[in-house]
This record gives sequence, C-alpha cells and structure tokens, in this order.
Amino acid sequence: MKTKKLLLATSLSTLLLFTACSYTQPKNNSIDLKTEQEMKLKAMKAIKTVAGALQNTLNVKVKEGGLSNAAIFCSTHATSLSKEVSKTLDEGVKLKRITDKPRNPNSQANDEQLVVFDEIKTKLLNGEKIDMIVKRKSSNHYQVYKPIIMSGKCLNCHGNDEKRNPEAYNIISKKYPNDKAIHYKAGDFRGAFLVDIINND
Ligand code: HEC
Repeated sequence: MKTKKLLLATSLSTLLLFTACSYTQPKNNSIDLKTEQEMKLKAMKAIKTVAGALQNTLNVKVKEGGLSNAAIFCSTHATSLSKEVSKTLDEGVKLKRITDKPRNPNSQANDEQLVVFDEIKTKLLNGEKIDMIVKRKSSNHYQVYKPIIMSGKCLNCHGNDEKRNPEAYNIISKKYPNDKAIHYKAGDFRGAFLVDIINND
C-alpha cells in the first residue's frame, strides 16, 4: 500500500516537473504555416538570383571554352561571383551553399546543419519529394534549406574517375587538394542552399 502511494506521488511529481518544464520553455522554435510559406518564398527568390547567375555563367564558360574553361572559372571566381550577386539580395537575406562533402572547405556544413541533412536524406530514401525545410533560430531569424541534387552534367567535375573530364579535373584538383566533392552519381544529394532570413516584417 505504502509503495503504491509512493509510486503515485513520484509519478505525479514527475508529471508536474514535465508540465512545468514545458511551460518554462515555450517552443519558440515552432513556425506557423503562413510564416513558413513566406520564408520559403523569400528563400526561393534569393536562390533563383544566385543559382541563376551561377548556372548562366557556367553555361557561358562551357560554351566559350569548354569544361576546362569552366573549371578555371569555377575554381577562381565562383565564390566572388556568389558574393557579388549576394549583395543584390533583399535586406536581411543571406545565402550560401553548404555540403557534407566539400570541395571548398568553406562550404563544410556544421553539426547542426548535418542533422538537417540527415532529415533530408531520410526523406529522399523514403522516396519523398522535398522542396524546402524551414528552421527557426530565434524569434525573427529563420533558416531555409533547399536541397541540391546532382544532374548528369555535374559529373564532369563531381563524378567518378570515368565520368570526370580529365582536363577540367586536373585544374580543379590543383586548386582543391583536399577535394571531397567527387564520386557523385546523378540523383545524389549534394548539399543545400542555406538562406538566412532576418524577418523584420
Ligand atoms: C566545370 C566544373 C564544374 C561543374 C560542371 C560543376 N561544378 Fe560544382 N564546383 C566546381 C568547383 C571548382 C567548385 C568549388 C567552387 C568554390 O570554391 O566555391 C564547385 C563547388 C560546388 C558546390 C559548393 C560546395 C563545395 O563542395 O564547395 C556545390 C553545391 C556544387 N559545386 C554543385 C554542383 C552541381 C549541382 C553541379 C551541376 C549542376 C555542378 N556543381 C557542376 C566545379 C564544377
């Protein structure tokens, strides 16, 4: 009898403890659907601007002087181009590319971002289509992840030894001696555009 009472008392206090915790720590990272949609729209606008500029330049460079020319360009100017274009983004919006297998070490995803990558990879494995994932960092700071998936033409510079263009990769490997961004196949998850949004609306 005594033990029963004790048990009840313990479970009650545990329950109270949990409820108390959930009151003292409000889930301030939850996002309502409307805000989520707004953040996705803002992110998409930024991604279109930067990715569009990168893609256009890549196409022009391949056309002008083939893959080696493009490799030279990407190895020397891709980052500065992204930086230049980023300046044209809306106020409070920043964009970068992050990955778990970086070519440029500055693109390495941190631990928190790798957790989101796992979330994305699981969804992809289950055959789910993922558009974007929105995370709330603080009351007005949001982060939007847009997965980057490999296509056939990326393999010229990111594929396995048979798929890579030897001249282009010769240039790349000199610039990035610790390159981890190879051996990809079409359809593989490559990383994400990460859009930071400070929302003052
Ligand atoms: C002509 C060669 C070339 C082609 C084709 C190419 N890339 Fe790259 N890629 C590079 C180089 C060089 C870098 C490193 C740029 C830098 O220093 O930021 C890079 C970097 C990246 C990054 C940044 C992360 C990291 O590892 O540094 C992503 C993401 C990426 N490429 C995805 C793609 C995708 C997707 C495609 C196909 C649509 C593609 N690349 C096609 C050469 C290429």
